[in-house]
Amino acid sequence: MKPKIYVTRRLPQPALDRIQEVFEMAINPDDRVLTKAEIVANVRGQDALLCLLTDTIDAEIMDAEKNLRVLSNYAVGYNNVDVEAATARKLPVTNTPGVLTETSADLAFTLILSVARRVAEADKFTRDGKFHGWGPMMLLGHDVYGKTLGIVGLGRIGLATARRARGFGMNLLYASRTPKPEAEAELGASRVELDDLLTASDFVSVHVPLSDETTHVIGAREIGLMKPTAFLINTARGPIVDEAALVVALRAGDIAGAGLDVYESEPALEPGLVELENTVLLPHVASATIETRTKMAMLAAENAIAVIEGRTPAHLVNPEALDRA
Ligand code: NAP
Ligand code: GLV
Ligand code: GLV
Repeated sequence: MKPKIYVTRRLPQPALDRIQEVFEMAINPDDRVLTKAEIVANVRGQDALLCLLTDTIDAEIMDAEKNLRVLSNYAVGYNNVDVEAATARKLPVTNTPGVLTETSADLAFTLILSVARRVAEADKFTRDGKFHGWGPMMLLGHDVYGKTLGIVGLGRIGLATARRARGFGMNLLYASRTPKPEAEAELGASRVELDDLLTASDFVSVHVPLSDETTHVIGAREIGLMKPTAFLINTARGPIVDEAALVVALRAGDIAGAGLDVYESEPALEPGLVELENTVLLPHVASATIETRTKMAMLAAENAIAVIEGRTPAHLVNPEALDRA
C-alpha cells in the first residue's frame, strides 16, 4: 500500500505526477486557500502534508494526525509553520531554497527599476491617453546607475540581487548578523550597521526571513533614517516592514517611494497604500515563473518522498526532528 499525502493546492503537474509515483495523493480541488478546519480534516489519515506559505501550520494541525511523518512546505520561507512545535513532535519540516533565488532576485531588481523610473505610473499614463508627445519634464524619475543599494540580509536572494546591482554600476552596502567575506570580495560590498545602511542608501532592499527578531525591523524610526530621495523595496515578508508607518512616510514624502511584493496582512493592503502613486504594488509574485514554480514543486515533492523513504531530504529546516538516536 502506498503512503498517503495531502496537497493543499494545485501545483505544476510534473510534481503531482512525481508525487503519485510514490504516494496516494489527495488534493484541494479548489484554487483557494483552505481554512484551518479544512486542513485539520484533510490531514487525518495522511502520512505527509504538502503545504503552502498561505497555510498556517500549527500544533493543532500536527496533532490532528499522530502518524504524520513530514511537512513539506512549498516555499523557501517557513514562517507559516510552527517549527518548534514540529520539532517537539519529531516531525521534519522541509522547504524549497535555492531554485527560486535568481527568479526572486530578478523581481527585486524589477521593483528597483520600476519605482525609480516610474514604470507602472508611466504605463498607466500612456493607457489613459495622456501621452501627447515627448516632454522634457514628463515623468522624470531617478537614476539607478551609480546609486547606492543597501541589502538587508545578504543571503541567497540578497546576494543574487546585489550581483544584478553590480551590473548597473551601483555601490553596495549590506547588513546581516554575520559578515559575508566572499560577497565583499566578489561585489565590493561593505557591511555596515542597519542604521548606517538606511542613512546612506538610495535603495533599501529587504531579504531577511520573517522571525520574531525581524518583525518590524523596518519601523517608523528606521524609515525616518532613510533619505527623502530613497526607495524601500520589500520582496521578503510583509511583517518585516511596519506597513502603517510606511504609508505615513510615503504620504508625507519622507521617502521617495516603495516597491512591495509582500504585505503585512496579505492579501489585505494597509489603507492608503493603493492611493499612493509613488509605489509599485505586486501580488507576492517573486518566484512566479513557470520554470521556477515547477522546480519548487519538484523539490517539495522530493523532500516529502525522501522522508517517507527514510532518507534525509535535501532541505530540512529542523534536523533535530530526524535525530533518530
Ligand atoms: P537566506 O539565504 O536564508 O537569506 C537570509 C539572510 O538573512 C541570511 O543571509 C541571514 O544572514 C540574514 N538574516 C537572518 N536573520 C537576520 C536578522 N535578524 N538580521 C539581519 N539579517 C538576518 O534566505 P533566501 O533564500 O535569500 O530567502 C530570504 C527570504 O525571502 C525568505 O525567507 C522568504 O521569506 C523570502 N522570499 C520571498 C519570496 C516572494 O515570493 N516574495 C520569494 C522567495 C523568498 P545572517 O544569518 O548572517 O544574518
Ligand atoms: C515565497 O515567498 C517563498 O518564501 O518561497
Ligand atoms: C530621447 O528620445 C532622445 O533622443 O534624447
